[in-house]
Amino acid sequence: MSLRASIDVVTDLTLTTKNPARTRADAIVIAVAGGPDGPRVLGGEHLPPKAVAPLTALLPALGVTGKAGEVVRVPAGDGLAATVAVLTGVGPESAALSPETLRRAAGAAVRSLAGTADVVLALPAADAAQVGAVAEGALLGAYRFDHYKTSDPAPVARLVLATPLARDKDAKAALVRAQAIGAGVRATRDLVNASPKHLYPESFAEEARAAARGTKVTVTVLDENDLAAGGYGGILGVGQGSARPPRLVKVAYSPARAKAHYALVGKGITFDSGGLSLKPAKGMENMKDDMAGAATVLHTVLAAAALGLPVRVTGWLALAENMPGGGAQRPSDVVTMRDGTTVEVLNTDAEGRLVLGDALAAAREEAPDAILDIATLTGAQVVALGSRVAAVMGTDDVRADVVAAAGAVGEQFWPMPLPEELRDSLKSPVADIANMGDRFGGMLVAGLFLKEFVGDTPWAHLDVAGPAYNESSAYGYTPKGGTGMGLRTLLGVLEAAAQR
Ligand code: BES
Ligand code: MN
Ligand code: ZN
Repeated sequence: MSLRASIDVVTDLTLTTKNPARTRADAIVIAVAGGPDGPRVLGGEHLPPKAVAPLTALLPALGVTGKAGEVVRVPAGDGLAATVAVLTGVGPESAALSPETLRRAAGAAVRSLAGTADVVLALPAADAAQVGAVAEGALLGAYRFDHYKTSDPAPVARLVLATPLARDKDAKAALVRAQAIGAGVRATRDLVNASPKHLYPESFAEEARAAARGTKVTVTVLDENDLAAGGYGGILGVGQGSARPPRLVKVAYSPARAKAHYALVGKGITFDSGGLSLKPAKGMENMKDDMAGAATVLHTVLAAAALGLPVRVTGWLALAENMPGGGAQRPSDVVTMRDGTTVEVLNTDAEGRLVLGDALAAAREEAPDAILDIATLTGAQVVALGSRVAAVMGTDDVRADVVAAAGAVGEQFWPMPLPEELRDSLKSPVADIANMGDRFGGMLVAGLFLKEFVGDTPWAHLDVAGPAYNESSAYGYTPKGGTGMGLRTLLGVLEAAAQR
């Protein structure tokens, strides 16, 4: 079964200045806010009073409150040309209508409309930022992973976003950006959701090649022989327990007048069984997601190229399958990394730092201005911050850039320290460093291990172990399964660098 089929199914989204009340569609999406005098329909700039008044009168009886996350479908009534109206909550009227609130409201509504062909969005879209937020939320919410389903409702096919700014330059640019983000996040989710039976290092490398075809991004694949010749002992060690050999994939976007050079490094464990330090069955259930970092890096580089950002970006995908086959590495094996560092492998389940160490060393050789890595690295990240807030560690400047970018794009990255005193716990009696240290502060210990491989390059490490995969039910624009968390933040960091 090929993986590519699902990746190109993209919901179509256009802007229009036409009155949404008079646009024929299967559904019209309208925002409702909670207010002191009860819920209120927003959309003065779009919707005629004769459409709004009867809806507003119905809200209390329908139990509609306008709280964030609430989605209610009702017959559209006489004032609207659409068949049904979808009322989506944006929270209390008193609170500012943030881009993230709009993204989530659009996403939740569109997600609930799977199986519908034509949808009109009559949400607040009075400036370019609002147009971008509504478009992005809608495109992210329209996602469905149905690659292996023999029958499943298709996501919304066509979206029309009503805005007086349909012909405005900034609004059009916001739409282009939303489409690039939508395509990137959705393709990232597809890779994360793909079965590890189909997605393994070699096929992942082929996916990267196929995705970059016809773009300005070049893909170079190092196979197991190249890795041996290059001294990539970490990636080879992790991959040697699998019948499917590892890969290191370099994904390069080099525009002519680049303002800076960023290296992005992604953990790409296509399945993490733990290796000989085998995980319990429950702990393995979602370990197909352990390549989320690499998928995010691939599609961030492609999105940067699609938007023509004046920043050179080199992505490194460290791909291996961590299996306990007869050739697997043993606890107490010593491996030599790309940069010559020797590592005692105390726990084969701490494999992410081994593949990343090699890839960080390779990235550093090109002397980029900064390195950012992203990985589903530690269970400790989930213990510390839960399943929706990711962590960022590293040098102060880059870490701050990540936090700022995350805040601007609506992702949650929380700054974490790299306390020097924890470094001692990684000491090995036989090698330069061990791959496991103190259990307490395990996320920070993993960060300190990675730090060994970046030298004095400005660097940030993003641990998305929890947020990369939504185990509970869908919310806002976030589906069950792969989320694509991190792509918008990484792209935001690159965009900020482009503006400096
Ligand atoms: N891929 C896991 C981390 C993980 C755990 C991601 C749960 C998402 C959800 C990683 O390779 C791992 O197994 N880490 C170990 C490290 C330990 C052995 C030092 C962990 O966190 O338990
Ligand atoms: Mn592991
Ligand atoms: Zn792992």
